[in-house]
Amino acid sequence: DNHQSENALFSGKRVLISAGPTQEKVDPVRFFTNRSSGKMGFALAEAAANMGAKVTLVTGPVSLETGHQMIQRLDVVTAVDMYKTMHAHFPENDIVIKAAAVADYRPKQIYDEKMKKQSDDWHVAMERTKDILQSLGDIKEQQFLAGFAAETTDPVDYGIAKLEKKNLDAIIINDVAAQGAGFGGDTNVVTYINKIQDKDEITLRSKQAVAHELLLLIARDMKDETN
Ligand code: CTP
Ligand code: CA
Repeated sequence: DNHQSENALFSGKRVLISAGPTQEKVDPVRFFTNRSSGKMGFALAEAAANMGAKVTLVTGPVSLETGHQMIQRLDVVTAVDMYKTMHAHFPENDIVIKAAAVADYRPKQIYDEKMKKQSDDWHVAMERTKDILQSLGDIKEQQFLAGFAAETTDPVDYGIAKLEKKNLDAIIINDVAAQGAGFGGDTNVVTYINKIQDKDEITLRSKQAVAHELLLLIARDMKDETN
């Protein structure tokens, strides 16, 4: 039956997922970060494991637990850590999904001691981090590579631009301004777009249910590519 076959949809497959925010320190007590609970990435890891995959979950600092036997969890803090860990595990994986909210900029200088209050203004010089997803797209071989796009305006246009620029097989667009798609919540609403720009809308539902639907779409598109 249908449920049986879904349980084995990813058996023998290895899935690499990134989740959560990164944290970029400026001094021992302060850091820059992005809003991300990690819930969507963790839901994807669990859904993939439930479908028989061997999952590696690379996560920034989050307050979530993983119980599944088939999930290997690797904790990272900075964008640099996440870059290294994702690249270390990329070659042996079949499906790679980047759900993390990676800092685009980090402080140019990290102070060893806590900054004391001085003047009325504090200007922190920032530098760009490497785009992890783009770097994986550049070296991709057999992998099915999917990214997320967090947008507040023109989500589909910006999403397609990211799909093409980063050499992805699919982009999952999060309209963060939409009802029920807010950060930290237990629900999401996304648009999935594949390489040939088929669009699939996943309407408002739990992040678990969204994850399940996304993996079915990925399985469909992987099958099409091998035909
Ligand atoms: N991403 C990444 N490394 C970065 C920045 C983003 O791997 N340094 C990944 C995210 O994990 C996500 C995708 O790129 O899967 C899109 O992230 P998003 O912030 O929506 O897009 P950006 O390309 O960073 O562009 P911008 O923030 O300017 O919209
Ligand atoms: Ca970004």
